[in-house]
Amino acid sequence: MRMVDLIEKKRDGHALTKEEISFIINEYTKGNIPDYQMSAFTMAVYFQGMTEQERADLTLAMVHSGDTIDLSKIEGIKVDKHSTGGVGDTTTLVLAPLVAAVGVPVAKMSGRGLGHTGGTIDKLEAVAGFHVEIDNEEFIRLVNKNKVAVIGQSGNLTPADKKLYALRDVTATVNSIPLIASSIMSKKIAAGADAIVLDVKTGAGAFMKDLEEARELAKAMVDIGNNVGRQTMAVISDMSQPLGFAIGNSLEVKEAIDTLRGNGPSDLEELCLTLGSHMVVLAKKATSTEEARSMLKEAISSGKALDTLKLFLSAQGGDASVVDDPSKLPQAKYIVELEAQEAGYVSEIIADSIGTAAMLLGAGRATKESTIDLAVGLELRKKIGDEVAQGESLVTIHSNFENVQEVKDKLYASIKISSNKVEVPPLVYDRILE
Ligand code: URA
Ligand code: CA
Repeated sequence: MRMVDLIEKKRDGHALTKEEISFIINEYTKGNIPDYQMSAFTMAVYFQGMTEQERADLTLAMVHSGDTIDLSKIEGIKVDKHSTGGVGDTTTLVLAPLVAAVGVPVAKMSGRGLGHTGGTIDKLEAVAGFHVEIDNEEFIRLVNKNKVAVIGQSGNLTPADKKLYALRDVTATVNSIPLIASSIMSKKIAAGADAIVLDVKTGAGAFMKDLEEARELAKAMVDIGNNVGRQTMAVISDMSQPLGFAIGNSLEVKEAIDTLRGNGPSDLEELCLTLGSHMVVLAKKATSTEEARSMLKEAISSGKALDTLKLFLSAQGGDASVVDDPSKLPQAKYIVELEAQEAGYVSEIIADSIGTAAMLLGAGRATKESTIDLAVGLELRKKIGDEVAQGESLVTIHSNFENVQEVKDKLYASIKISSNKVEVPPLVYDRILE
């Protein structure tokens, strides 16, 4: 096989065979296909798309480009959840202990990543002593015992995707539905998920700014999952404003604790119950989402969800007493209110630029080498649709430096106030089941 022929075939709109796709992925991973040919290929895919069969074949080829995680020693159906980006998305921190509390095994492999705030591991490290440097055996033992554990990314998972994603980033080919869908799904499958719940975000803070695109991406991922034998469904949820109130590592841990106690922001709680009930059904712990939802609500009201969080934290060295006393989490030195300059109704809270403001405080990582300040971040005091008086706080800024003028300017530019009443955007737009 010659790469040039395969580029031409895709350029002219034909579907590639499984063998042809495997050849491209294997040879590219090994370094036998140069970046310039792969760039031409991804651009051809960008314009010509891929059939459902090609997408499944591409995903599996990427899964098999490296190690895969074997979770077969964990009892039960392992359901993973993936959210496509978003700002201040605390759902993983809530969902892991919440679904574990009703018996769904959560074997989470997580990274640090770049972004407005840290990844799940960074957030959890706000709890003193908590660590993810455990070996595979210990990981499996903990999931079987407590139903939840988190391990740091190890091994050589989907090297083809790593290489390809970096190439797409600099060749204007990230934004292709078959390439995004296969990239995300290959990582979930390599990490050992039997079933997958996807939370595809749409709106100003998301990758897919409009609903139709989000729906198309969701459908593409659900098809891939189901075509390769992993039951998959997707929820399309709103990211026109940040989810919940907290954006920042310690602040999000506290928000997750509040939510598991039943005192969290209503949008965060609702999305967690929605995603969680689908996870419970896919894990076959309930026969309907209604039944699953009442099991999850019961885990919250009985305290079982909080107890599961404590078990999970202490099993990995964490100080579980933060759950009853969140003031033990890292605290910022300066607390500054962002006062509304006019009265009215909040009409916009542009999620990605709020995220940038959190970055300015040091809550996230701009490069792999940056360090994160776990204490800092933002707490929204108002959400879209809320009425606000002049001088009332819109946001509480938690900072470790005194002069936060630049952060304030960014926040004022991200929050719009209208003199007319504003409708609250829906939280869940759609569900894609098959
Ligand atoms: N996230 C991924 O992991 N891959 C993509 O291609 C896009 C977003
Ligand atoms: Ca949040």
